[in-house]
Amino acid sequence: MTGKLSPIDNAKYVAARRAAEMVQDGMRVGLGTGSTAAWLVRRLGERVRDEGLKIKGVPTSTATAQLAREVGIEVVSLDQAGWLDLTIDGADEFDGELSLIKGGGAALLQEKIVATASDQMVVIADAGKEVEALGAFPLPVEVIPFGWQTTRTLIEEALDTMDVLGTSVTLRMNGEAPKITDEGNHILDLHLQRIGNPRQLALVLNQVPGVVENGLFIDICDKVVIGHGDGRVELRDINEGTVEVDELGDDGENLFSDLAD
Ligand code: 5RP
Repeated sequence: MTGKLSPIDNAKYVAARRAAEMVQDGMRVGLGTGSTAAWLVRRLGERVRDEGLKIKGVPTSTATAQLAREVGIEVVSLDQAGWLDLTIDGADEFDGELSLIKGGGAALLQEKIVATASDQMVVIADAGKEVEALGAFPLPVEVIPFGWQTTRTLIEEALDTMDVLGTSVTLRMNGEAPKITDEGNHILDLHLQRIGNPRQLALVLNQVPGVVENGLFIDICDKVVIGHGDGRVELRDINEGTVEVDELGDDGENLFSDLAD
């Protein structure tokens, strides 16, 4: 990458950089998926290289596993790690209770398992991901390929009884073919516009035969690091009820000058 980071990339970068400071020697760390999480993985790779930081990383997708290895992080499976000290991941939306929509990158299943197997989950996000109510971002639901159209019909029926504004459900595509997740499944995107009761919806969706997991993360996230385009970062801790603000500037262009455009 050459030149200055765009405001949105700088927001993601500073959030990732602030969260990377939470990682300490000896930790087992869940590594999220997506463009914000990729900044984190690169930053941790730098710390491994420059500071001799010793961590074991548990990636949440094949893409993250590949990047983590490339930047020199020791990669282990969740079963090898057993339990994690910390997971840091991006999100598509978060609300005031730190409930999340995740799965825009189709990795929600591994992401939810890894985050749940962690003492702490920290979300890193640009400020545009914060919402009053979840649901403007289509809610991803991972379903097995067998009978997926029946599963979709059952989901649509279930949505009729839920507090949501929209009920259309689409199969995520990769070009002409359905998107296949790392676990060999499909993704249905639920266009709900507004989710009145995310907790109830998460429970109902997981009762539908064929649904493997949904992208609502409720009571999983502990902290959010919100990046702004001007380099400010805000750290909110839902358990402590605290908010910290830092100024990290925009030196991402130097740190990541080796990236291809
Ligand atoms: C992948 C995810 C991502 O964390 C989410 O889509 C946010 O991605 P990005 O950081 O690229 O905006 O849930 O399944």
